[in-house]
Amino acid sequence: MKGIILAGGRGTRLYPNTKVVSKQLLPIYDKPLIYYPLSVLLLARIREILIISTPEDTPDYQELFGDGSHLGIEISYKIQDTPRGLADAFILGEDFIGDDSVCLVLGDNVFYGQYFSQLLSDSQEQMAEGGAVIFGYPVANPREFGVVEFDENNRVLSIEEKPQHPKSSYAVPGLYFYDNEVIRIAKSVKPSARGEIEITAVNNAYLEMDKLKVGLMGRGMAWLDTGSPKGMLKAAQFVQTVQDMQGFYISCIEELAWRKGFITTEQLEKLGTELKMTDYGQYLLRLAEENR
Ligand code: G1P
Repeated sequence: MKGIILAGGRGTRLYPNTKVVSKQLLPIYDKPLIYYPLSVLLLARIREILIISTPEDTPDYQELFGDGSHLGIEISYKIQDTPRGLADAFILGEDFIGDDSVCLVLGDNVFYGQYFSQLLSDSQEQMAEGGAVIFGYPVANPREFGVVEFDENNRVLSIEEKPQHPKSSYAVPGLYFYDNEVIRIAKSVKPSARGEIEITAVNNAYLEMDKLKVGLMGRGMAWLDTGSPKGMLKAAQFVQTVQDMQGFYISCIEELAWRKGFITTEQLEKLGTELKMTDYGQYLLRLAEENR
């Protein structure tokens, strides 16, 4: 399975913060926002990753992650000239995806929770049958998201993008699993009223084929909003609170790469040494030390 992180967009809702810096490079407490979705892919053991971003911002991502080899993964890059919608990721990523299935995670989505790892592996297992797996997460403001309605057996009844009258309080978070059909489907989707090829249209195509499954994220999962300065601050405070309390870092990509066996303890130590002036670097060094 391949992984795509969509880190495009102009971030206009966060101006002036994002006037010259990509939104997904802004910090959530002690690490750039994009570390959080990248962690999702690492947690799912996905090692071939494509980052899609704007012509202006792509060089910054290349500088940040290089080819990913320091994390034992392969990161490549694709430029999106204009923001044409989320489903454009599969058209831009066609060569990268090849004959594989794909997991798309939006570059500004932050997930955290005890059972998340299990949810990811269950979803990947479900993908063995093909089709698509998306998620539902209860929110207070469903009008701002894609909204999924399902019956008591978790069978999807409808999906609507930012509906005026939501049929449920379950938003669709920015994490999606698709079989290889998604490339063909994305190409056939017509642009919406806002001129974008919507991921919701792709999901509806899978629904029509009766190949769409929804996994529920319960109350124990945190899906944090980063769509406003206030949301970003709250997310940062959440991360700080949990990290301070437990002494474990959230979405530490080096730690994940190491725990998944993509890099050795020696490599982890080297990464920690490069950052040893910071708490983040000291954390990596501590992990390496304790496990030598
Ligand atoms: C997009 C999707 C929406 C989804 C949301 C999750 O919305 O269109 O279906 O619920 O991401 O973050 P956007 O952020 O582009 O408004």
